[in-house]
Amino acid sequence: MASADQIRLLLVEDVPQVAQYVRGLLNAQSQVRLVDIVSDGTVVATRIGEHRPDVVVVDALLQGRVRGMQLVKQLHDAKTGVPVIVLTVPQNPVTVDPDKGIDEVLSMPFNGYDLITRIANVHKTASAATEKGPSRLVVVFAPKGGVGKSTIAFNLGVAASGLGMRTALVDGSIQFGDLRGLLKAPRDAPSMLDLPTDRISESDLADVLWRGPADVDVLLAPPRIEMAEMVLIRDVEKTLSLMRRLYDLVIVDTGVGLDELTLALLDQADTILEIVTYDATTIRNTIAMAETFQKIGYPPSKVQYLVNRADSSAGIDPNDLRVALGREPEYKIRSDGQVVGPASNQGAPFVTSDPGAGVSRDVLDLAQSLFGRSLAGAGRKPALAGAR
Ligand SMILES: Nc1ncnc2c1ncn2[C@@H]1O[C@H](COP(=O)(O)OP(=O)(O)OP(=O)(O)O)[C@@H](O)[C@H]1O
Ligand SMILES: [Mg+2]
Repeated sequence: MASADQIRLLLVEDVPQVAQYVRGLLNAQSQVRLVDIVSDGTVVATRIGEHRPDVVVVDALLQGRVRGMQLVKQLHDAKTGVPVIVLTVPQNPVTVDPDKGIDEVLSMPFNGYDLITRIANVHKTASAATEKGPSRLVVVFAPKGGVGKSTIAFNLGVAASGLGMRTALVDGSIQFGDLRGLLKAPRDAPSMLDLPTDRISESDLADVLWRGPADVDVLLAPPRIEMAEMVLIRDVEKTLSLMRRLYDLVIVDTGVGLDELTLALLDQADTILEIVTYDATTIRNTIAMAETFQKIGYPPSKVQYLVNRADSSAGIDPNDLRVALGREPEYKIRSDGQVVGPASNQGAPFVTSDPGAGVSRDVLDLAQSLFGRSLAGAGRKPALAGAR
């Protein structure tokens, strides 16, 4: 293998026998090249600067002034961008947590295959993340039910996919599984509950994603209402972090109200797309919601307002809504029951089944305004579901 294709590995290990064992395993192959073995945690950052490794393996039990897990945290805080695999023993379990800089864990005893595949996997994920640039997490939310969240989340996802963005949809309407219904996903299609807890890998995710229209991958909510309580917020957060690394865009549909899960989703969002309509309840709730968001500390720019069915003001003065929002809403989508209704009944996205319709053009324009700028240079990539 040409050296340019080799994965450069830096090993942080102070037990000579383990260092020797790893060296021996790597000698037998050419995919990974060991660029250095460092036994002193204090010099690791410097060595990373010198050797520019693609992957770092750190022994969790490293002794000395900077101990193993302390070093992992330091490397994470320093935002080196180099993925870290933590080497440990069964008596000292470590959990994969990319948010804490633990991209992978390798527990002893391990063989050459375990070592190489883990190195290759974290390297692949890290290079995919840098190639595609930062991903976007858009949470579609509304201060009132039935205003078009699921319809817009779905069609916006399909529109974004049409623009060349690798897009995933997440059904955050946990109880009713709105996307499962809207997209006519089969009742036995897997859901987020089929993901393992704690440790979620790319292949676990691929196994539960359902391939929707226009190659949009969908993480569905559980198929029955009572299963909603089995969904753990922590797991959803972890899954979203992983999805952000694999997709250009993740769009989350939410249920009615501001429960704990929805709040966690909103926290993680880059953009909250808040759907409003011209009606008195929306206006009242929007004001309350804006106060809540301000208390939580969301910057005003995190929320973007979209007036759905903007051409049917139903007796409400559009200015009342403007006053409630404190600004002009950023986006508008017209009402068109003739197009939206039949498409929804068939589980089809109207943006592709009837792209010339005014309502479809509104959604396509919305996608362009929201994502157009981040598209420069983004290449089309194959979706994850079905690629197994
Ligand atoms: N622009 C539109 N023109 C015509 N009909 C629309 C439009 N947007 C949404 N609808 C219709 O309004 C109804 C509610 O839409 P949807 O289910 O997407 O709302 P929701 O906010 O997700 O509701 P819930 O709060 O129950 O989750 C659906 O019947 C949908 O087809
Ligand atoms: Mg809905």
